[in-house]
Amino acid sequence: MAKAEEIVLNGIPAGENWRMVQRDVGMLGNSEPMRQLIETIEQIAPTDISVLITGESGTGKELVAKAIHLRSRRRDEPLIAVNCGAIPEGILESELFGHEKGSFTGAVGPRKGYFELADKGSIFLDEIGDLPPSIQVKLLRVLEEREFMRVGGTTLHQVDVRFIAATNKDLEKGVRDGQFRQDLYYRLNAMHIEVPSLRERRDDVPVLVKKFSADFCRENHIEFAGFSQSAMNMLKNYPWPGNVRELRNLVEKVIVLERGNFVDELALRKYLKIYDPRENLPVPLNKPKEEVEREFLLRALLEIKSEIAQLRELILSHPLPHYSLGPWREDYSPNSQSANGKNAESVPSVAEMEKEMIKSTLIKTGGNKRKAAKLLGLSERTLYRRINAYHLRPDDDD
Ligand SMILES: Nc1ncnc2c1ncn2[C@@H]1O[C@H](COP(=O)(O)OP(=O)(O)OP(=O)(O)O)[C@@H](O)[C@H]1O
Ligand SMILES: [Mg+2]
Repeated sequence: MAKAEEIVLNGIPAGENWRMVQRDVGMLGNSEPMRQLIETIEQIAPTDISVLITGESGTGKELVAKAIHLRSRRRDEPLIAVNCGAIPEGILESELFGHEKGSFTGAVGPRKGYFELADKGSIFLDEIGDLPPSIQVKLLRVLEEREFMRVGGTTLHQVDVRFIAATNKDLEKGVRDGQFRQDLYYRLNAMHIEVPSLRERRDDVPVLVKKFSADFCRENHIEFAGFSQSAMNMLKNYPWPGNVRELRNLVEKVIVLERGNFVDELALRKYLKIYDPRENLPVPLNKPKEEVEREFLLRALLEIKSEIAQLRELILSHPLPHYSLGPWREDYSPNSQSANGKNAESVPSVAEMEKEMIKSTLIKTGGNKRKAAKLLGLSERTLYRRINAYHLRPDDDD
């Protein structure tokens, strides 16, 4: 295969081509994985080699297919995209290869299939992993011989197409399980492009967020004040199981529901599902176990860090009132910092907040510890222990 430096398309050396891919296809991102992806696209686009694009859902596989076509010599010919998973098996063959008049009930006239429509151009077979076995064998024939027959027809049709296929399924597993033909897999997989997940190119998040916000606001005539730096960091750190598609949907949702107001970390939090490593998120299988565990731990730590920052913001924006302790009060100790708002600048600790909660619940229940424990979701024993630890006692004990 030709090296990137040797490829000159439209008189522009390959080194500059990623900018064109960004402009023509709208594929954004300057991260290293993205640059490598675009370089690979530029290397293979001018050839007729079949390409299999894999990657998690929403990573941009369809954009990659478009980029390959637009950067090939076939760019002025059609790119026909077929979603193999969305077409019912009963009509898939005639959709792909066309049919002759009277070949089945309803075939009132001859009709061209996608392959004929894609002649001289490219065919993009999306969700190829969903292709039923009966069609797999027919597809293999087109790939090998570049010829096919319409349903109900007897003449062979020649076709000149470039094959681009995509899937978010594990096709090798499909082959092992006997659901996907091995010969077809090898044919399609002459060249393999793995589109990186958004987690692997977090540096691209800000540029994507800015572009999606700008596009959405322009199309919908909305004025948007933007995201705070900490909100942007939160977006960068989120694991994005639905990748770029999920990011775009989220940005649009936040802009609408926040009515175009400035979005800080606290506002954003409502929309981001809190990351829980025990949840069934895609685990990067290509990494060693220790590294995956480390990543999970790091994410959990980040989560805790941001929760603390939010609590702080929340508390500072709602200063604690001066409590009237009613029949309950705390023992005064000159060394302990009071949480009752005497020092408005200080942020109460979690223990101080817990103490306040216990106090106010006891006041609410008229000192009934059983009821208070129930309301607080604590066992009575724990409540007693806390009351002792915080030196809380009823006024009439005085
Ligand atoms: N690098 C990118 N720059 C700008 N937009 C992107 C990028 N990658 C993906 N998108 C956008 O994200 C959305 C999902 O992309 P696309 O449909 O290509 O994903 P996919 O990998 O084919 O997903 P699926 O496996 O679910 O079919 C689209 O709106 C697309 O325009
Ligand atoms: Mg797709």
